[in-house]
Amino acid sequence: SSNKSAVDIAHVYRGTFVHSTDHTVVEILEDRLLGVDTEGKIAFIGSGQEVGSLSQKWGFEALAVTQLGQYEFFMPGMVDTHIHASQYSYAGTALDLPLLQWLNTYTFPVEACYKDLAFARNVYTHVVKRTLRNGTTTACYFATIHTDASLLLGQIANDFGQRALVGKVCMDTNNFVPHYRETPDESHDETNRFISEMLKKKYPLVMPVVTPRFALSCSAALLGHLGEIAKNNHLHIQSHISETKEEVKLVKELFPDYDSYTDVYHKHNLLTDKTVMAHGCHLTDEELKLFREKGASVAHCPNSNISLCSGMLDARRVLNHKVKLGLGTDVAGGYSPSMLDAVRRTLDTSKALTIQDPQYQTLTFEEVFRLATLGGSQALSLDEHTGNFQVGKDFDALRVNTAIAGGPIDLINHGEGPKVLFSLLCSPFPFLLSGDDRNIAEVYVAGKRVVPFVETT
Ligand code: GUN
Ligand code: FE
Repeated sequence: SSNKSAVDIAHVYRGTFVHSTDHTVVEILEDRLLGVDTEGKIAFIGSGQEVGSLSQKWGFEALAVTQLGQYEFFMPGMVDTHIHASQYSYAGTALDLPLLQWLNTYTFPVEACYKDLAFARNVYTHVVKRTLRNGTTTACYFATIHTDASLLLGQIANDFGQRALVGKVCMDTNNFVPHYRETPDESHDETNRFISEMLKKKYPLVMPVVTPRFALSCSAALLGHLGEIAKNNHLHIQSHISETKEEVKLVKELFPDYDSYTDVYHKHNLLTDKTVMAHGCHLTDEELKLFREKGASVAHCPNSNISLCSGMLDARRVLNHKVKLGLGTDVAGGYSPSMLDAVRRTLDTSKALTIQDPQYQTLTFEEVFRLATLGGSQALSLDEHTGNFQVGKDFDALRVNTAIAGGPIDLINHGEGPKVLFSLLCSPFPFLLSGDDRNIAEVYVAGKRVVPFVETT
């Protein structure tokens, strides 16, 4: 027709959409029509009643609309702001030691194995599939010090269609496993090689991230080099900060001329608006102010924080400081690769803080939903592309079916429960707390269906 839009519509979905916006913690949009263009971007979102006029305006067949079922909804894909792909092979084991001993005893010896590309390919394929299957449409990965294996992780994420930041880990000091360490020059040169090789691939959804492991494993010289590399190439940066008290104390001893742990990163140009720092359990108010000033974000990794007895992040305090906050699984310090677990552990930690202090303002379900989606995309500075169903963003979405046979949510439906429970049926909350990957019928990244997996030849 004469007023047909210039954009071609590839898919149209009709049903309930649940997401967070800048103004609303959670918005439940019932009977909406959402159009995705051939580039995978959200072209329009309108009322389901207007299917006739919308199909004329946008030039799609009203009959080609995918109608969600009564107990289905779309929510934005979840954003894992901190996960070690290389530690997936031992997730669920080895949580009997505090952080620094855990690193030396289990983590460094395992990570050293990624010199072997066949081993790397096997683990990285499994971790990308497992996280996608569990609704992680965007992942911010640590790999290992090995450039070629790290490039392979980028390739695998691209092949399966996951949006990802991938970091080749940098570490040149203080490591009890001497065969898993770089010289400062190797670390610097290999980081440059990693970045240039990654950028050469022109993956649409996978980007490199500059990755000093943490202050205890990097010399000041290396931190300086990495800050320069990030600055000159305008890249993302990720690391760990203030995860345990012992670590904070050692950083103070190793870097006596700095105001704080945060200042160590800041003075090396590693605290920017594209920086995400994992944990931050023991950050001071002054440090959080510096985070806010620089636009850096915190990745809250509650499973890992509890599993390694590192601390409990006061997420409310981070939010009050207006510091960007996302959630991370931190496999294998965290034992679950699923963001659903990160949601639950975030609520648990907030409730544990409330048990300690009944005045504490517990995080709400809605706030945690937002952290897992829009919050994570903001923490990774990817909110221009993903995080909710705003027109112009990529369609990164989970098609959730709350009523799978025999699931707890299905049983509410069949029971003689109070009315208030029925009204919750199509909300995301029973899914987030009691659901699992069987409730995730489909996963989309940038408009492309990536789950169920299509076996390629
Ligand atoms: N700090 C430095 N490296 C690591 C790691 O691999 N996991 C966790 N949880 N903390 C770290
Ligand atoms: Fe970590």
